Amino acid sequence: MRLDKLLANMGFGSRKEVKTLIKQKGVTVDGVVVKDVGQKVDPDEQIVMVFGERVVYEPFVYLLMNKPAGVISATEDNHDQTVIDLLEPFHQHFEPFPVGRLDKDTEGLLLITNDGQLTHNLLAPKKHVSKLYYAQIDGEVTEAHIPQFEAGVVIDDGYQTKPAKLTILRSGDTSEIELEITEGKFHQVKRMFEAIGTKVTYLKRLQMGPLTLGDELPLGQYRELTAEELDALKEHHGV
Ligand code: URA
Repeated sequence: MRLDKLLANMGFGSRKEVKTLIKQKGVTVDGVVVKDVGQKVDPDEQIVMVFGERVVYEPFVYLLMNKPAGVISATEDNHDQTVIDLLEPFHQHFEPFPVGRLDKDTEGLLLITNDGQLTHNLLAPKKHVSKLYYAQIDGEVTEAHIPQFEAGVVIDDGYQTKPAKLTILRSGDTSEIELEITEGKFHQVKRMFEAIGTKVTYLKRLQMGPLTLGDELPLGQYRELTAEELDALKEHHGV
């Protein structure tokens, strides 16, 4: 495989960052300093080192799932099916875990990986990773709520949420909205709508940071991130 891909998979940064490591003459294969970013290596046969440290090849896996309702965002559960149960054995073998949680009844974009550092960065409150949700609401959501969400609403435990961007798609006895938030408190979106006297009846995550769900992936299916998506994630939130 290509050396830059191996190092990126091993958590040494985006392909661009890996290129820099190589340019700094920090990478050797079988003791020879690497000059060509695209050099091929056999991780089982050759000894790769980065600044004198042996790279043991245990690849990371990065999966984007369209989570269906009814499954739990966890690695194990005594009663319910988990998102990990939905993976092929080939991917389960990497022992990945979901990055954060979607409620059992929430659908949509869920990142599943075994890259603990990236997970930590994506979930760190300080990083303010944006999350975009689509929701159907029992109750009327109006233009007047937009500045209220922008200012932050006070949810049931007294916490005032960070600014959130509300877009109204349809307003009436029942409403449809999109909401962008940068934090991830337990049941956050549902509690924000409860705070204005309405109720979320359907919730789906559409985006997380640079990742977008799109319309191609059926519910319950998943795919590996593309190299571009992984680079975008690492550049914003990587090691
Ligand atoms: N907010 C919620 O209320 N539930 C989710 O699953 C995600 C965000």
